[in-house]
Amino acid sequence: MDLAGKVAVVTGGASGIGLAAAKAYLAKGAKVVIADFNEEGGKQETENLKSHGEVEFFKVDVSSEEAVENMIKFAIDTFGTVDILVNNAGIGVQGETHDLSYEDYHKTIAVNQDSVFFGSKHAVRHMMNHGGGVVINTASILGSVGEGSAFAYNASKGAVNLMTKSLALQYADKNIRVNAVAPGYVESGMVSRDALGPEFYDQLVSKHPIGRLGQPEEIAHAIIFLSENDFMTGTTILVDGGYTA
Ligand code: NAI
Repeated sequence: MDLAGKVAVVTGGASGIGLAAAKAYLAKGAKVVIADFNEEGGKQETENLKSHGEVEFFKVDVSSEEAVENMIKFAIDTFGTVDILVNNAGIGVQGETHDLSYEDYHKTIAVNQDSVFFGSKHAVRHMMNHGGGVVINTASILGSVGEGSAFAYNASKGAVNLMTKSLALQYADKNIRVNAVAPGYVESGMVSRDALGPEFYDQLVSKHPIGRLGQPEEIAHAIIFLSENDFMTGTTILVDGGYTA
């Protein structure tokens, strides 16, 4: 797919991997909707990017189906269609399972997993009547390998991997491709030496054979590859510095 002129909606686009993906789509000449719960940060980043191409902000809570449906409508009203949806917004809750509240468990599932259902459902409804499209989900290495302190996150990202395959099979004949990217630990708001403390940060680095954490742009690079490559569907690409090798 040639991305020039295509319309991409990126959830969680106000920061980290989503923001890097939004910038990468703009650099390819795509039109972008940055959709995020963080209205202030999202509007600011959108303003900063106006000189790079056509970009608009939409406030969304991806755990609400109504809000996600409105996000897709907004993109269609603003730019005429939706060609690409990146289901990227996500949260992580750390803690041991015997102390995990149902509220925190459910919130993680709602933001990381239900969002993929809502986004895919409403994007695909449009795409199947408009010649096709691309859905990309941000999964995680923790969708394939367990981590003791990430029970709900593990569950949500494991589900995203199989939702990716299921959707890919259902809609391949409608010219809709569905893939996922599974990052290792990536420097972002949640993941930094300051946020995690030097000890835990260094422990994370040591799990990546490449000797450092990833950068959001390195994940965005894979998102662009998955968008452009017309023979890829139903797969999850690991971009993890060797974490799962
Ligand atoms: P981030 O915290 O920088 O960005 C996440 C964005 O999602 C934020 O802008 C936040 O406002 C937004 N968001 C959170 N809840 C939302 C909601 N209910 N509705 C709409 N937007 C919401 O983090 P990062 O790292 O860029 O995360 C992006 C994705 O990458 C997530 O799905 C995360 O699970 C995944 N990931 C991140 C890794 C990392 O080490 N940073 C590793 C593997 C996966």
